[in-house]
Amino acid sequence: MNRTAPAITPPALQFADVSHVYQNQRRRTTVLKQIDLAFERGTFYTVLGPSGSGKTTLLSLASGLDSPTKGTIRFDGQDLAELGLGRYRNKHAATVFQQYNLLTYMTALQNVITAMEITGAKPATGRRKAHALELLAKVGLDPDMADRNVLKLSGGQQQRVAIARALACDVDILFADEPTGNLDEDTADGIIGIFQELAHTQNKCVIVVTHSQTLAARSDRTLTLRKGKVAVGAA
Ligand SMILES: Nc1ncnc2c1ncn2[C@@H]1O[C@H](COP(=O)(O)OP(=O)(O)O)[C@@H](O)[C@H]1O
Ligand SMILES: [Mg+2]
Repeated sequence: MNRTAPAITPPALQFADVSHVYQNQRRRTTVLKQIDLAFERGTFYTVLGPSGSGKTTLLSLASGLDSPTKGTIRFDGQDLAELGLGRYRNKHAATVFQQYNLLTYMTALQNVITAMEITGAKPATGRRKAHALELLAKVGLDPDMADRNVLKLSGGQQQRVAIARALACDVDILFADEPTGNLDEDTADGIIGIFQELAHTQNKCVIVVTHSQTLAARSDRTLTLRKGKVAVGAA
């Protein structure tokens, strides 16, 4: 009989004693001070805090764009430094940027397919185009819009393409920095609904930086950054 205790599943993402300092020639800015945090799958988080409090810094460390000055960040229990930031970004995490960062000479569909090709993501059916169309439909873009050059889509529609592209890579963690900043209320509402659905029905870990109290109120947990520390609360 196996008498070992059941393994405790590590959080999707874990910050352990993480500090981050920017050192320029003239000054040193300590942005994060000994942060301990856990992010779980199936949960939609929002990160709040005044301008300059370190929200973007936290996101860039969590999404593997940068390494912390001190401390450890783990994905499913594995140190990102060991896993490799490139591999982590390629296979497990995706970021929806405020400016979308879409390839503007391509259609929405081509943007999503290209992301799958770059990351090597293979849908279960093996058919990338069908999968891309499915994901675009899921975020509310019909085949007609999918075939349009992304510059011929509205801001909200481009944001949806960016989300579909992130999903196409079948990541575990989705990050977004101010995703509803440029959108009208109805469009923003639709995007928030997508984040909730991703967390609650697809078991993704969704982490969104925002200034919007409306968005924060609809997330499961809020993290507030202030003076290098993070306060965690239920939204
Ligand atoms: N590359 C950098 N070099 C030096 N200081 C930086 C750099 N990036 C950000 N900072 C400083 O770190 C602090 C936090 O920045 P940031 O994470 O962008 O905050 P937020 O996203 O909450 O506005 C600010 O004081 C900012 O000026
Ligand atoms: Mg910022």
